[in-house]
Amino acid sequence: MYGFMVKTILALETSCDETAVAILRERNGKSGPVAAAARTPVARSELLASEVASQVSEHEKFGGVVPEVASRNHLVHAPRLLERAISKAKIDMLDVDAFAATSGPGLASSLMIGASIAKGLAIGFGKPYLAINHLEGHLLSPFFGDGQIKSNVSLIVSGGHTMSIFVRALGDYRIIGRTVDDAAGEAFDKVAKLLGLGYPGGPEIEKHAQHGDPKRFDLPRGMLDSENFSFSGLKTAVRYLLPKIGVIPNPATRDEGSRNTRAEIIGRFCETPDSERRLTQTPYKFSDDKLLADLCASFQQAIVDVLVRKTIAAAKKYDVDLVTASGGVSCNQELRKQLGEKCEREGLEFKSAEPWLRTDNAAMIALAASLRLQNGFASKVTDEIDPNLALA
Ligand code: KG4
Ligand code: ZN
Repeated sequence: MYGFMVKTILALETSCDETAVAILRERNGKSGPVAAAARTPVARSELLASEVASQVSEHEKFGGVVPEVASRNHLVHAPRLLERAISKAKIDMLDVDAFAATSGPGLASSLMIGASIAKGLAIGFGKPYLAINHLEGHLLSPFFGDGQIKSNVSLIVSGGHTMSIFVRALGDYRIIGRTVDDAAGEAFDKVAKLLGLGYPGGPEIEKHAQHGDPKRFDLPRGMLDSENFSFSGLKTAVRYLLPKIGVIPNPATRDEGSRNTRAEIIGRFCETPDSERRLTQTPYKFSDDKLLADLCASFQQAIVDVLVRKTIAAAKKYDVDLVTASGGVSCNQELRKQLGEKCEREGLEFKSAEPWLRTDNAAMIALAASLRLQNGFASKVTDEIDPNLALA
């Protein structure tokens, strides 16, 4: 048990296309008043460094993440970020009391890099190693800085995941619903691509939606009678709607696609085939800004409606007082606004992760590691990464 000896944790996050390193130190060098019996650990921690190297520009020409490109970039970025984090934290590697890394879910070739580095450092410095579930990092991120993990219904909405979870306490999770096809962020990315907007698609759609009419197009709200989520029907509905409202394929983008793109979109990720391939989806061209704004607003509202409705239903069913939201899609202002307002009307508290903690980062992994360590948990360096690691 390492519980009360741990002061400083260094964590790496390399599950997808962001390389991140963070260093977290327990304030005053003491563990918080962890009460395992009360099952509500308290973190009194101070973030000494949080470094993130985004690879968006490397992947955006493919319209998705190319695993082998991501993995090669992690190898380049990780040592640089480690050095910078140590220097910003003004500590020595010898001062680190435990090393943590995301061990899944994610891309195998990416997870491997962060986990191997953390394991190597743990072995080299004779310190504990912690394998952390990426989703647990997101799920705990709304509690960063305020310590107490209260029972809640947690909505994780990212590029890879859409899930609602009943959180009883640290490590006590029950999945309520998950997506049966595309994640919410994936739907934003794919539809943005179809509309000829940039990657990642969520911020692009949100920007155009700002001046749009969310009621103009009646788009489907998938699986309303289930606790699970489905967004692929919505994406298909947008695709079929385009020719009907007079939007035409953009020949310029199509040519560019066949010339420059050696990737085919497979879900959120791309593979790079031997022969040149054309993108499976041809971006459309909008000559009417209002039409684009209305379509973006209607699409965004369809996603927000489903997320708000199911999250509130789950909060009522599991009789919690608190709803939390995390992951990249929780950057969406309409989602946070409408979920927050609905929570207020229903007498629920609403908490979302701080902006800098919403997209992938290592601070949330360090927080999860810190809380787990305080509860006497450590992994073995022989523990393997698991691309499909389950949360519960
Ligand atoms: O959590 P994250 O950084 O990575 C994963 O773990 O997947 O989430 C990235 C996703 C992308 O799909 C991106 O389009 C989406 O979050 N996203 C947004 C917004 N900002 C990022 N979606 C909707 N509105 C936004 N403002
Ligand atoms: Zn994530």
